[in-house]
Amino acid sequence: MTGGDEAGRATALDDRPAIDPPAWFVEQANVSESSVYDRFEREWPDCWRRAADLLEWHEPPTDVLRGADGLPFEWFPDGTLNASHTCIDRHLPERKNQLALIWEGHVGESRSYTYRELYREVNAVAAALRGKGVEADDVVTIYLPNVPELPVVMLACVRLGVIHNVVFAGFSANALAERLERTGSSLLVTCDGYYRRGSAVAQKNKADNARIAVERDVDVVVLDRLGLDVHLGEGYDDYDRLRAEYDGETVDPVPRDATDTLFRIYTSGTTGQPKAVDHTTGGYLSHVAWTSHAVLDVKPEDTYWCSADIGWITGHSYIVYGPLALGTTTVLYNGTPDHPEKDRIWEIVEEYAVDVFYTAPTAIRAFMKWGERHPASHDLSSLRLLGTVGEPIDEPAWRWYREHIGGGECPVVDTWWQTETGAILLSTLPGVDAMKPGAAGKPLPGIEMGVVDSAGEPVGTGNAGELVVTRPWPGMPQSLRTGEGWGAAAARGEGWHYSPEDGATVDGDGYLTLLGRIDDAINVAGRRFSTMELESAIASVDGVVEAAVVGADHATTGTAVYAYVSPTGTCAEADLQMRIERAVESAIGSVAVPEAVVFTPELPKTRSGKVMRRLLTAVANGEALGDISALRNPEILGELQSATPE
Ligand code: WT7
Repeated sequence: MTGGDEAGRATALDDRPAIDPPAWFVEQANVSESSVYDRFEREWPDCWRRAADLLEWHEPPTDVLRGADGLPFEWFPDGTLNASHTCIDRHLPERKNQLALIWEGHVGESRSYTYRELYREVNAVAAALRGKGVEADDVVTIYLPNVPELPVVMLACVRLGVIHNVVFAGFSANALAERLERTGSSLLVTCDGYYRRGSAVAQKNKADNARIAVERDVDVVVLDRLGLDVHLGEGYDDYDRLRAEYDGETVDPVPRDATDTLFRIYTSGTTGQPKAVDHTTGGYLSHVAWTSHAVLDVKPEDTYWCSADIGWITGHSYIVYGPLALGTTTVLYNGTPDHPEKDRIWEIVEEYAVDVFYTAPTAIRAFMKWGERHPASHDLSSLRLLGTVGEPIDEPAWRWYREHIGGGECPVVDTWWQTETGAILLSTLPGVDAMKPGAAGKPLPGIEMGVVDSAGEPVGTGNAGELVVTRPWPGMPQSLRTGEGWGAAAARGEGWHYSPEDGATVDGDGYLTLLGRIDDAINVAGRRFSTMELESAIASVDGVVEAAVVGADHATTGTAVYAYVSPTGTCAEADLQMRIERAVESAIGSVAVPEAVVFTPELPKTRSGKVMRRLLTAVANGEALGDISALRNPEILGELQSATPE
């Protein structure tokens, strides 16, 4: 996606002021030597030993990367380890009485586990799973919301060398059945139900329906979360009863090869069919531990909170594995940010004196809309570092986050990665690099990425192109590692590369700005515009919460820009529309000015919080909507259809 000149100019960040990390932060940062980039470059791939050294290995690897110039890539090939050991057991001598996990449910409902307590839970559940007959390399499916038993069951699985497949609890029975079928899983762990915004969701009913739809016999273990007194027939077990039966037993962690699969997860399905991604034990764990250390600056004495759902990769990597590998206290929240009140998140930050907070731009835009009085009513001075992930964060949201959550002081890291990459590949290092609001940053030390045109040639500074990763990285999934079943996304030829299918630009300092998925780019009268660049221009208008733009068929220009805008509701729409048009014209050019601006209280989003542009495109073109099962707020569609001009 080579951008026209106009597009290029609008996204060049060279002239934006870079913000240096404050001295107090640098002084205490885990990584603060600016030589880290050169050193990693000089010593690649051995530099990654530094990541592996953050773990405790059963057999420490003597080799870092075998097959650097040919598939399969083997990271830490002769090392063996167990994830449950490195995340729990090895911390016991030093911090058995330190909290490993703080769990917060609805108001007044909380639980916490020290490392010793977590050890006891995980061992009992591992013994129970073994009692159910599961063995190393089997796949166990877990269908639980953010409750403490979710990480406990994950860690119990990996203790046995069993591969877990966590299915997001909000998914339907059909989505669960499909994953059970595809993974060949014979054991499912779920719960009776859970609360969402104060009302009960009947989880076991969905699990029952999925079980019926699957050919194979599937045993089900049901956690009593709500006391719903559900019927447990043949093939069903009660979680608490099982756990109690094995309480006090210990299970030796099974040593795994570094290249063995740790877990399976499906991609979120924003675009196309969800695909299974298998992450490795040694490479993945090293990469998540290193990035938790170097990017999120996590220290054992911290209270660290990533507000994601464990059902997504973000929760696997940065609620469970990264933080626990480093021996910190990780916070797990089961609830929504605005229930019962819009200050729920800040109440929790204050209560536990959270040091590092990691969330998504979609949440930040909601916080902005709700107003600064909510964070302002809490003491957030414990915060040291803020992070975001999931989408590009536009400059106004970045500034609001730093100002109103970070007290104008905390560094903010905008971390780019994917389900497929396992861990962060692109971000600033908060103890080393200056920040540029709106730009994610440089590839991390030891990571090599570029921005190329359709011929695969590097684009010049400021021009839009396609992001590529040009060297293997430790957290790479099995299919990329071995080259099996990845098709066009990974290619060899002039050297190996992986295409994440995101657009980006690069500035003179090597900072990358992400422009959204390449399939989302809009071509108007022969010029390609990134959705991100248009949406940023619209989001910078006072009175706009967020915006999504799509291309609609147009008789003259081929495609016209339709903008779907969620307003704060404080300005007259006609005036707002005019200011939006002007903002797009001055940031990008008149050719990109939206043909239609449609105001909507909410944008259609997936359950993982991403705007479903595919649906908006269908609405804009008056086409059938297709599969909407990934959509969190289907009720909004009718309204969108009637508000969109014919
Ligand atoms: C896609 C991956 C990684 C966990 C969350 C999502 C987009 C992610 C950023 C960022 C711009 C970002 C990309 C990427 N994305 N982080 N900091 N800036 N875009 O995982 O569901 O696999 O989605 O999310 O488009 O390809 P995922």
